[in-house]
Amino acid sequence: MKEAFLKAMKERYACKEFDVNKKISKEDFDFILEAGRLSPSSFGFEPWQFLVVTTPEKKLEVTEHSWGGRDRATGASHFMVVLTRKGDMRHDSEYLNKFMKNIQKLPEEVIEMKTKFYRDFQEEDFNLLENHRALSDWAAKQSYIALGNMLTAAAFIGINSCPVEGFHKEKTTEILAEKFGVDTDKFDLAYMVAFGYEKRPQEFPKTRRPIEDIVKFF
Ligand SMILES: Cc1cc2nc3c(=O)[nH]c(=O)nc-3n(C[C@H](O)[C@H](O)[C@H](O)COP(=O)(O)O)c2cc1C
Repeated sequence: MKEAFLKAMKERYACKEFDVNKKISKEDFDFILEAGRLSPSSFGFEPWQFLVVTTPEKKLEVTEHSWGGRDRATGASHFMVVLTRKGDMRHDSEYLNKFMKNIQKLPEEVIEMKTKFYRDFQEEDFNLLENHRALSDWAAKQSYIALGNMLTAAAFIGINSCPVEGFHKEKTTEILAEKFGVDTDKFDLAYMVAFGYEKRPQEFPKTRRPIEDIVKFF
């Protein structure tokens, strides 16, 4: 098991060119989505939303202002755009109140306690309410955990991927509002990610710093 996991970690790389003729099966893509869905998030509030783009027209639309994603998207079997919630992530939002009730199935008194605790966390500990950007960046940070898990899950079953932040955020946000029906008052664009099958094997060896440079034990 350990070997299989490490093999997937070592073999995963940011695939630049996908084989447009090879499609990921529904079962395999569901597996990747499940790795995203089951990812941890702060207080368990799952601030993410996944848009999955598979048609050539829609892939072109969503990557109109993406220098780092256009080629990945056109060849990929599934191209994903990940959004994160903005104001809904405030401690006093109606959305979170319903989330605790309906998804987390918490009783009223626990919701009250958790909300207070969460308010202190946002106001005192992490200073997340000083501006809108702080809160939405914090939500986006969590969505990158789902990204990591989906990349690893894909690699584990032999599917290639490429995370994408190479896009003009403001212009792409306008496209999402105009052509994908995204409510951009509620959602922020975090990142994109391509999944599919490589056109040719990876040419460059993986480079990473040695473990001693990264870790300090105390
Ligand atoms: C958040 C993030 C954004 C990235 N954006 C792009 C991108 O827009 N286009 C691209 O080709 N690669 C992108 N990459 C891939 C990185 O360049 C790549 O992961 C890094 O060079 C390490 O190489 P490896 O993933 O092949 O091991 C991105 C990676 C991450 C984690």
